[in-house]
Amino acid sequence: MNVLIYDNEEQIGIAAGNYMCGQVLQKPDSVLGLATGSTPLKPYRQMSELYKKGVIDFSKVTTFNLDEYVDLDINDKNSYHSFMNENLFRHINIPPENIHFLNGNASDLQKECDDYEKKIKAAGGIDIQLLGIGSNGHIAFNEPSDCFQRWSHIVELKESTVMDNSRFFNSPNEVPTRAVTMGIGSIMLAKKILIIALGKKKAYAIKQVLNGNVTPMCPASVLQFHTDVTLMLDRDAASMI
Ligand code: PGA
Repeated sequence: MNVLIYDNEEQIGIAAGNYMCGQVLQKPDSVLGLATGSTPLKPYRQMSELYKKGVIDFSKVTTFNLDEYVDLDINDKNSYHSFMNENLFRHINIPPENIHFLNGNASDLQKECDDYEKKIKAAGGIDIQLLGIGSNGHIAFNEPSDCFQRWSHIVELKESTVMDNSRFFNSPNEVPTRAVTMGIGSIMLAKKILIIALGKKKAYAIKQVLNGNVTPMCPASVLQFHTDVTLMLDRDAASMI
């Protein structure tokens, strides 16, 4: 893994946003795998800035988001649809028909997951996947478990994830407890991966990812087996390596 350590989140935002945009400059019809959470906020801001400055054109880009809550209205402010619109899509020019999400309100969630995999494949696969990491080592909503789940699937969220995400809701009781998520196989098929970790809360997970065994108990550890991973860390997230 290419491990890059920065002084602060601001710098990572610029570096990560530039890295994503660099992919699009190199290949204007890139397929981007996108993430939600606090981690990608500054990278998305940088991507939006570069678009505003006329440096980059996203009109041929296709996107696939990693995950979405089950049974949460897509217009709810906490849905990942809303998050992406607010923090990226409304600022840049990706055609709406090129934007893909798992639908957590689908009547047949398993079919929705299977269809999502087909759509990724039909688009030619993901060129670059942006990832955050959970304090428990999850990537997307692939939670620690006894085995790696290969493709997109339905997941029960761990208590620790519900608690981590409750900061966005009025109370932990409002956090959905199920989600649909790309699987580990879906993520590992991306040609490049950019993973970012910020803050002390992520330090132990990062230590496991870099120095631990590959185990589904720390889902992100599987990235050791990918051949093109860039890991951007702030000093706190890097404090245990
Ligand atoms: P965060 O979440 O960016 O809000 O810390 C990351 C994740 O859970 O994957």
